[in-house]
Amino acid sequence: MPDVVFGEFADLIRSVGGDPLVAALPDVLRAQHTTGLALDLGAGTGIGTVTLADALPDSPVIAVERDPEMRTALMTRLAGRPDLRDRVTVLPGDVLADPEPGPWGLALAIHLVCQLAPEQRRQLLALLADRLAPDGVAVLDRHYGTADPKPVPETVSATVRQGDCEYQRVFAATAKPDRIHARNTYRVVRRGTVLAEHVVETTVYASDEATVLAEAAAAGLRHEFTGDRLVLLRPA
Ligand SMILES: C[S@@+](CC[C@H](N)C(=O)[O-])C[C@H]1O[C@@H](n2cnc3c(N)ncnc32)[C@H](O)[C@@H]1O
Repeated sequence: MPDVVFGEFADLIRSVGGDPLVAALPDVLRAQHTTGLALDLGAGTGIGTVTLADALPDSPVIAVERDPEMRTALMTRLAGRPDLRDRVTVLPGDVLADPEPGPWGLALAIHLVCQLAPEQRRQLLALLADRLAPDGVAVLDRHYGTADPKPVPETVSATVRQGDCEYQRVFAATAKPDRIHARNTYRVVRRGTVLAEHVVETTVYASDEATVLAEAAAAGLRHEFTGDRLVLLRPA
C-alpha cells in the first residue's frame, strides 16, 4: 500500500508542464562539487537519484525508498541506465531506521520533509547534522507541510492523458488545527468508464519554513537558499 503517491501515476502527473524544481536540480547538485557518498532520501521513482548520479559522477549513490511500488519504478528507471549499475545502490526501508553510516557528502531529500510528522522531521534534521561530513550538504525542497490546515472538498487536482486513457487525481481533505487528512483518489478513465481506482490516504502536518529552519539551526545546521525552490543545509 503506497503511503503518499500512487506509483503508476507518479511520473506521468509530474511530467505535465515540466517541474521547475527538477529542472533546477542538476545545476544545484553539480555546484556542490562533492565526491563523497551521496544519498537520495525518499527517492520515489528515482528522478532525483539519476540526476544526482549524473551530477556527481565520482560519488557512490544510495537511494532509500520504503514504498515497494515506487521502488519498482526506481529499479525500472535504473535498468535503463546500465552505466549506473555499479555506482547506485537502492535500499528498501525507512530513512530514519538504521541509516547509512557517515560521512555523507550530500543528502538529497525532495518532497520528503512535507511527508513527515514533526517528530520525524526533527529526527531527520538531527540525522543530517550527525551524518553530513564537515563540508557536506543537504539539498531540500522548500515545501514543508500544509501552510493552512483547512478542509478541501473533492477537487480534480491533476488530469493527464496517456493514449486514450485519462489519469485523474482527485484530492480531498479534512482538517484539524495542526494537520490535514488528505485523500487522493487515482482513477484511470477510458471513454467515460472508470477502469481502475486507487485511494491513498495520508496525514500532512502544518508547518512552515521558519519553523523548519529554526529546527535545523537547533540541530546544528545552517541554511542557504538556492533559487526559490531549494534550500541547502550544512553543518554549522
Ligand atoms: C512525494 S515522494 C517524492 C519522491 C522523490 N524524492 C521525488 O521527488 O520524486 C516521497 C517519497 O518518500 C518516501 N518516503 C516517505 N517517508 C519515508 C521514510 N521514512 N523512509 C523512506 N522513504 C520514505 C515515500 O514512499 C515516497 O516515495
